[in-house]
Amino acid sequence: MKGVILAGGTGSRLHPLTKITNKHLLPVYDKPMIYYAIEALVKADIRDILIVTGGNHAGEFLKLLGNGREFGLQHINYSYQEGAGGIAEALGLAEHFAMGEKVTVFLGDNIIEGNIVGPVHAFREQEHGAKILLKEVENPREYGVAELSGNRIVSIEEKPQAPKSNLAVIGIYMYGNEVFDIVKTLKPSHRGELEITDVNNHYIREETMTYEVLNGWWGDAGESIEALMKVGNLVAETGANKLTL
Ligand code: DAU
Repeated sequence: MKGVILAGGTGSRLHPLTKITNKHLLPVYDKPMIYYAIEALVKADIRDILIVTGGNHAGEFLKLLGNGREFGLQHINYSYQEGAGGIAEALGLAEHFAMGEKVTVFLGDNIIEGNIVGPVHAFREQEHGAKILLKEVENPREYGVAELSGNRIVSIEEKPQAPKSNLAVIGIYMYGNEVFDIVKTLKPSHRGELEITDVNNHYIREETMTYEVLNGWWGDAGESIEALMKVGNLVAETGANKLTL
């Protein structure tokens, strides 16, 4: 299984902080935001990692992370997304890196209290399809929202006005290698992006999507200045920054 961290996009919801750097380099308590995604993947024994970034500050990732020695890695791979055509477009850039293997995709602004060891292990054993992680939230309108029927996901709606549940789809996705063919079939949404929710709905229609509800807190630190601060405080209060690799 390979790991892909998406760290492109414009970060416009965090202006003016992101006028002078990439969102994923901003501090979350005592570390740059992107550290948390790398640590979560390494903890789940995913050590072959690609970071997709873009914009004017891509070179700073190399300066900060180098070959990943701080995380016990010997090498980190990097790719450059021109523009910000969506999460699924950024994922598409990982096709050559994946070399036929399954991938765990981690949005670089997502931070979790616990770990993804269990779901990654289960997905290594899963024969077909994809797996996503859900979390109950108070503000589902800000996220992709899953609709369940019994124990099955029947659809995901991206930032719905009238959410059908309070289960957000968090930004950690596991896919078989066919995901790269699915990405090639996507059309840009009304906001001009290739949407990861369209990828996930493809698997749901094929009935090959599984899910788990994540243990511990989850935060999207890129959602707003308030969320950035809240996640930083949660990290400090719960010691989530001190997880040993
Ligand atoms: O955080 C979970 C949510 O993430 C999900 O519930 C939504 O379904 C999903 O669409 C996504 O929503 P956001 O509005 O939070 O996505 P955002 O544009 O903030 O992008 C998330 C990450 O993906 C961010 O860390 C940067 C990266 N990204 C984004 C875009 C648009 C890229 O690498 N390239 C891009 O073009």
